[in-house]
Amino acid sequence: MSSDPSLTVSLPVPVSPYTELPLSLADPRIDTPAVLVDLEVAEQNIARMASYAGRAGVALRPHAKTHKSSAMATRQLAAGAAGLTVATAGEAQVMVKGGVPDVTVAYPLVGRAKLDRVLEALGAAEVTLTTDSDAVTDAYADLARRAGRTLNVLVEVDTGMHRAGAPPQLVVDRARHIAGTPGLDFAGILTHAGHAHDVPGPRGIAVVARQEATVMGDLRSALEKAGLPPRVVSAGSTLTAPYLCADDGITELRPGTYVYNDLRTLACWSCTPDALAATVLTTVVSTDGGRVTIDAGSKTLTTTQDPHYGFGHPAGAAEVSVARLSEEHGVLAVPDDHRPYAVGDRLQILPVHVCVWMDLQPEVYGVRNGQIVERITVDAMRHSL
Ligand SMILES: Cc1ncc(COP(=O)(O)O)c(C=O)c1O
Repeated sequence: MSSDPSLTVSLPVPVSPYTELPLSLADPRIDTPAVLVDLEVAEQNIARMASYAGRAGVALRPHAKTHKSSAMATRQLAAGAAGLTVATAGEAQVMVKGGVPDVTVAYPLVGRAKLDRVLEALGAAEVTLTTDSDAVTDAYADLARRAGRTLNVLVEVDTGMHRAGAPPQLVVDRARHIAGTPGLDFAGILTHAGHAHDVPGPRGIAVVARQEATVMGDLRSALEKAGLPPRVVSAGSTLTAPYLCADDGITELRPGTYVYNDLRTLACWSCTPDALAATVLTTVVSTDGGRVTIDAGSKTLTTTQDPHYGFGHPAGAAEVSVARLSEEHGVLAVPDDHRPYAVGDRLQILPVHVCVWMDLQPEVYGVRNGQIVERITVDAMRHSL
């Protein structure tokens, strides 16, 4: 029996590690399903959001939950990001190990196991924690004692998503509790208006974003009045960030999905089709008259469905959709007048929800001009702990 208790799982990847790059997308050595990232599009997305944050007078702290890769985080930092956001202690560990010097964990960490992992991640990095209850704050105080250093703590605010976060009227009390706790430094406030996905029409997103801005701006004033001025007022997702700026009292934006975008972002009027960076390369494995079946099922595409786009569609063919999924099969709905597909054809399917795709891939492939030029390790894949 091995004396090393760590679990080593060897995962097959679509492109053998011994295959030299660049590799044409037409090369039969590429196995499918394989997740591809158009690097030019991703770099434009990174640059566009960095430019918006600069013009809005706020810092950018992208959420790593979308790419789950320290290699992509490095690109965001190079474009001017102040640091990264993560959702889990495991993601924090990966990002710090990957060289990200400043990480915010935008999630209340409950339980000794998670706090121990954060303690390991701390090292030389600046790590900011998030709480929405005094119970979580008190556990962070214990962590600060064990770490022998002061920890920055943000209060999460519920601005309407009703997922986590203190109601606005309790935030000053939560902040005061942090400020009065030895070992903790009240750093500010944070919110996520994820309910912007659920509103009809672009005007609805603007309304959610403006509500997010108003609640956070008002809280900033209330905290200043209470003698607890926040250094950080963190808000803004891919959908709402474009409506927020420094004049609202916001100091940083935390969009995640924008790096690759997906059909949900497109359906929410928050990107254009040419800003969709990720696809899964699949192979047609079976056809029977009108039925066309590809080798990407729910274990690749996931079961997230969009009312407009089903489980996704081939890039450049919005009239075709992935209508049905088994675990390893995807069945396409192809209009009668569409060109026929044959066994062996390769298609690139666009994601409905790209963040969950990435969680299933040990590596994805960076593409330029029809060639795979880079292996992108998804080092935070499956780091939900
Ligand atoms: C706390 C938090 N911040 C930021 C984001 C980024 O949102 P988006 O991926 O829509 O840009 C998320 C996404 O779920 C989140 O949960």
